[in-house]
Amino acid sequence: MRTVPAEIGRPPYAVTGDPGPSTSSNVRTEEEIERMRLAGQAAAEVLLEVCPQIVPGMTTDRIDELVHQASVARGGYPSPLNYRGYPKSVCTSVNEVVCHGIPDSRPLADGDIVNVDVTIYLNGVHGDTSVTLLVGDVDDASRALVLQTRTALAEGIAAAGPGVPVNAIGRAIERFALRNGLGVVQEFIGHGIGTEFHSGLQVKHYYAPYPDTILVPGMTFTIEPMLTLGDPACAMWDDDWTAVTRDGRRTAQFEHTLLVTEEGIEILTAAADGTVPADVLVAG
Ligand code: MF3
Ligand code: CO
Ligand code: CO
Repeated sequence: MRTVPAEIGRPPYAVTGDPGPSTSSNVRTEEEIERMRLAGQAAAEVLLEVCPQIVPGMTTDRIDELVHQASVARGGYPSPLNYRGYPKSVCTSVNEVVCHGIPDSRPLADGDIVNVDVTIYLNGVHGDTSVTLLVGDVDDASRALVLQTRTALAEGIAAAGPGVPVNAIGRAIERFALRNGLGVVQEFIGHGIGTEFHSGLQVKHYYAPYPDTILVPGMTFTIEPMLTLGDPACAMWDDDWTAVTRDGRRTAQFEHTLLVTEEGIEILTAAADGTVPADVLVAG
C-alpha cells in the first residue's frame, strides 16, 4: 500500500481496514455540509487533474500513483486505501469490469473504456465521484454506452429533490437505460456518504417500490449508475473486489456526491469554479 504523510487526517479504518457498522444520521449538519463541499471539490479536482493524462499504454497502477499523489497534495486521504482491506488508492474499472477494479500492471489499450473512481477523505468527510473515459479510438457502441450512462446519472439527479422518495431516482435511471437498450446493474448501489464512506441510505439504480425514504434537505448521498451493453448480471473475481459482467460485455459508470437542499439538488463533486469533470473529460 502507498503511504500517506503523517500530518494528513485518516478515517478510522485506515489502520484496521474495518469501517465498522454505519452509525451516522442520513442528514448532515450545516458545518458537515460545508466540509463536504470542500471534500467533493477536491475529489472532482483530482479527476480533472489526473484524467487528461490517461492515454493508451498507461497502466492503471500509474493512475493509482497519480490519484494518490493528487489526493495527498490536497491534504486528503485517498478513501479506498485499506477500506475493508482494499489495497489501492483508487478504483480503475476497464471494459467488462463493472466496478471496484484494482489498479495493476496492465497497460490501457487503444479502444478501452476505463472508469476512474476517486474518493477523498478531507477534514473528516468523504467526497466520492467517478467518470468513464474513452481511451484512444473507441467503437461506436462503447462510446454510446459511455455517453448514455453519463445522461442516466443526469436523469437520476433530475428526478431527485426535497420531498421526493429516493426510489424516484432508480425509476428515472432504469427508464432511461431500458429505452436505450442498456442493462442496469443491481448488485451495486448508491449510498449515503459523509463522515462515513458508506452510510445508511441506499440508492438503487432501478425501480424498487420499497423502501421509499423521502429525501429531505441536508441528506448527502451518491448516485452511481452502472449500465451494460448486454446482460447486467455480475460475477466476482477471486480477488473478492473486481466485479465483472457475466457475459463479458462492456459496462460504464458515472458518479456524483449530492446534497439535498431546500431548492433541489447540489452537486458536491464539482470543481471550485463549478466545472463538472464528466462534462469536460468525456467528449460528445
Ligand atoms: N468509490 C466506490 C463507491 O462509489 C467504493 C469503493 S470501495 C473500495 O462507492 F474499497 F473499493 F475503494
Ligand atoms: Co460511491
Ligand atoms: Co465511488
